[in-house]
Amino acid sequence: MTTSAQVTVLGLGKMGQTLARAFLAHGHPTTVWNRSPEKGDALVAAGATRAASVADAVAGADLVVVCVVDYAAARQLLEPAATALRGRTVVNLTADTPDAARSLAAWAADHGVNYLDGSIMTPTITIDTPDAVLIYSGPHDLYRRHAATLAALGGTQHHLGADPGRAAAFDVALLDFFWTAFAGMMHAFALAKAEGIDGADLVPLAEGLAALLKDSVAEHGERLDAGRYDADVATLATIAAGLEHVVAASERRGLDTSVQHAALAQLHRAIDAGHGDDDGSVVSAVLLAEREEAGSRA
Ligand SMILES: NC(=O)c1ccc[n+]([C@@H]2O[C@H](COP(=O)([O-])OP(=O)(O)OC[C@H]3O[C@@H](n4cnc5c(N)ncnc54)[C@H](OP(=O)(O)O)[C@@H]3O)[C@@H](O)[C@H]2O)c1
Repeated sequence: MTTSAQVTVLGLGKMGQTLARAFLAHGHPTTVWNRSPEKGDALVAAGATRAASVADAVAGADLVVVCVVDYAAARQLLEPAATALRGRTVVNLTADTPDAARSLAAWAADHGVNYLDGSIMTPTITIDTPDAVLIYSGPHDLYRRHAATLAALGGTQHHLGADPGRAAAFDVALLDFFWTAFAGMMHAFALAKAEGIDGADLVPLAEGLAALLKDSVAEHGERLDAGRYDADVATLATIAAGLEHVVAASERRGLDTSVQHAALAQLHRAIDAGHGDDDGSVVSAVLLAEREEAGSRA
């Protein structure tokens, strides 16, 4: 869907440049600004207008998209331009914590700036393709008003609720899942190599395990929501025993085991709390119970 909305993109790192290119490709008059202006050269050659300051960049914009390294940087560039931003709409696609998103939303409300928060869940190469996934939170009517413009970024786009921190909350939970699994993958391939197994030989079996993990996601969510932790496949004690073997084999080969020890410590705390015969999904519940206990002590 193409509209002629004027878009401004603040921040031209790898992602910001990709976003600006997508808006241009969909026919939006696009103004760009970056702290290091030369990163806008290729976009200017492709038809974008370069602004000399954030205040100049946002003047006349129907939609201001921010994509920088974190919210401290976003605030550094938005706050001095508060007067120029009054009455405009900012969609902040920078990643950070839910609290940082809520705090920036409060600043925006104090300064008469319409504010939507968002997170990009897929890499630059997916933008303006069916594979892009973007999530937003903040006022729903504001999202609806700009959805046709944001559609230039492609893929699937979801509005997740009015709390401006909700998109960032989804983001950090999903990053938690992805990057700790990534840490496991890094270690697994190092352990295999240390045992003389080539990456290519491990790949087919590792892909099978990745599929198993994927298949367990829906069940995990359902179990946590229902509070149902009876083990019908494997008990937590069995899982802990398996991880003990990983630690022993890794230490024998002189590999760092800090991540595996941390994971094992969580499993042991759950077992010590009486969950050794439960399903592994009980660990999420134990982490939440520990948090409540720590909160009630504080
Ligand atoms: N890259 C991806 O595939 C991807 C995927 C999903 C989400 N994201 C998210 O998108 C955001 C941007 O990522 P990126 O890959 O574009 O990062 P990047 O290439 O490292 O670019 C960082 C951007 O932040 C700017 N910046 C840093 N500190 C600043 C400050 N104090 N004031 C003003 N601008 C400042 C940089 O300006 P200079 O050019 O002047 O240094 C640059 O424009 C991040 O929140 C990231 O998590 C990225």
